[in-house]
Amino acid sequence: MKIVLLGAPGAGKGTQCKSIVARYGLLHLSSGDILRQERAEGTELGKKAQSYMDSGALVPDEIIIEMMAKAIEKAPAAGFILDGFPRTVNQAAELDKALAARGQRIDAVLNLEIDNQVVTKRITGRRSCPKCGAVYHIENLKPKTEGICDHDGTKLVQRPDDTEQVLANRLETYHRQTEPLVDYYKKNGTVYNFNADRKPDDVRASIFEKLDALVKA
Ligand code: AP5
Repeated sequence: MKIVLLGAPGAGKGTQCKSIVARYGLLHLSSGDILRQERAEGTELGKKAQSYMDSGALVPDEIIIEMMAKAIEKAPAAGFILDGFPRTVNQAAELDKALAARGQRIDAVLNLEIDNQVVTKRITGRRSCPKCGAVYHIENLKPKTEGICDHDGTKLVQRPDDTEQVLANRLETYHRQTEPLVDYYKKNGTVYNFNADRKPDDVRASIFEKLDALVKA
């Protein structure tokens, strides 16, 4: 299965991906995580991406498309789930071309729907583990010990782009540049909408129900 996961910052893309990859054996490819890794390693790509990410703007398409094309090549036969990519119609068109060249296509687009007010609370309260990537929330998803990762005991951190001001830019960018992808993908009938303003387990159950039906079809 080849899946695209769409949704505003804080819609719960990363949270849901963890369960989806575990159940269906897919490779989780998060463009944001790959960029943050490049930054942490101080690569040329990471340096180029830094100022865009810190201001809440999109990293230029040519950088992202090349980076994600390389990542997709490593996907297992079971497939992949794309989290945060594509984010512009141009990126989606380039992805379609690259997949078509391999006789492949996107099978499902999962669209997590949510209001700006809800995600603002989620994003400003998000904390993550810099070592294993586990994601927590200071109210909704607390670690067992405050500020410490349950899995490896590492001190949790707040992402530098998770401030209210940068988030406002990320949301504006999302609605202007990424939301049009819903219509782009609707044309080939692969979009499934989910109300993401529910408990993570309830969102997950709805997604599993849909994906199980697609796997059986
Ligand atoms: P990226 O890392 O992709 O960030 P994003 O899309 O803004 O998404 P987030 O990771 O913030 O949110 P999420 O939906 O994964 O939410 P999460 O599950 O963590 O991109 C960062 C930057 O990189 C971009 O701004 C851009 O500059 C650049 N970039 C990346 N891809 C690019 C591309 N393709 N093109 C160009 N530039 C690109 O959940 C958030 C919080 O809410 C957590 O604390 C979680 O515990 C909590 N939560 C989750 N679900 C629920 C729920 N159901 N109920 C209550 N709380 C919940």
